[in-house]
Amino acid sequence: MNLEDHLGDIVRKAGLMNNVSPAAAASAAGLSENELAAFHESGQVTKKINFNALGKILDLAPQKLETLAQGWLPTKKDLSRWHAIRSFTTTDEGFSVNCYLVWDEATREAALFDTGLDAQPILDCLAAEKLSLRHIFITHSHYDHVEALPKLRATFPAAQLHSSSPKAPVNQRNKTGEVVTLGSLRIAHRETPGHADDGVTYVIEHWPKEAPPVAIVGDTIFAGSMGNGNGAWDLAKQKVRIEILSLSAATLLCPGHGPLTTVGEEQACNPFF
Ligand SMILES: [Fe+2]
Repeated sequence: MNLEDHLGDIVRKAGLMNNVSPAAAASAAGLSENELAAFHESGQVTKKINFNALGKILDLAPQKLETLAQGWLPTKKDLSRWHAIRSFTTTDEGFSVNCYLVWDEATREAALFDTGLDAQPILDCLAAEKLSLRHIFITHSHYDHVEALPKLRATFPAAQLHSSSPKAPVNQRNKTGEVVTLGSLRIAHRETPGHADDGVTYVIEHWPKEAPPVAIVGDTIFAGSMGNGNGAWDLAKQKVRIEILSLSAATLLCPGHGPLTTVGEEQACNPFF
């Protein structure tokens, strides 16, 4: 799977985040404004870019920009290590979003994290694995993450809904310190607003054979990048640093877009941090 954001997206986002004008960014990079605009669009490096000066002005780590320019991708993850996680990528006119199904192998109880755009692959997996859907956790209420929710709720009316949306009924809202059990698994949450007001990250622990924790992060962080700050860039970045990069290095990060990664890989290669 390709990265959600190419280098041009990252540079464009960092310009917005830090209020750096295209003229200033272009000058630091050693590009014309037209060349910078083309780079924002394609992410392709066609001319030597001064990543050192560009990184300094945009508050991005220059050596990590170089790493991305050389084609960095997180290592491919083998989900069988966790026994019972499945990821689903659904698309709409070329736009794609990830959601994740987790279950306890002994009880066959399942929890879904976001719904994506289409319920069918989830319904197929639940049937094939003979699972009962007990919980639906929402990372944030942007449409691509919840589009299939009405269909899933109609099919599984007893599944408990969890979100940090202030618009949700009180009995569906995440509570401070709450831990949901799913067989032997434990699901906690950390509030991660920024990209979305109701952004929340779910951390799943107690996996069989001591597999590392799994964090379902929504659009808080992507492999090599982060979600759009939507006007709250400082908060978005702070929440990644405090709530996500503080997890153990081996923690598997499952983003709403783009490939799986780990805390350790993002500490080493994400230019925003
Ligand atoms: Fe989003």
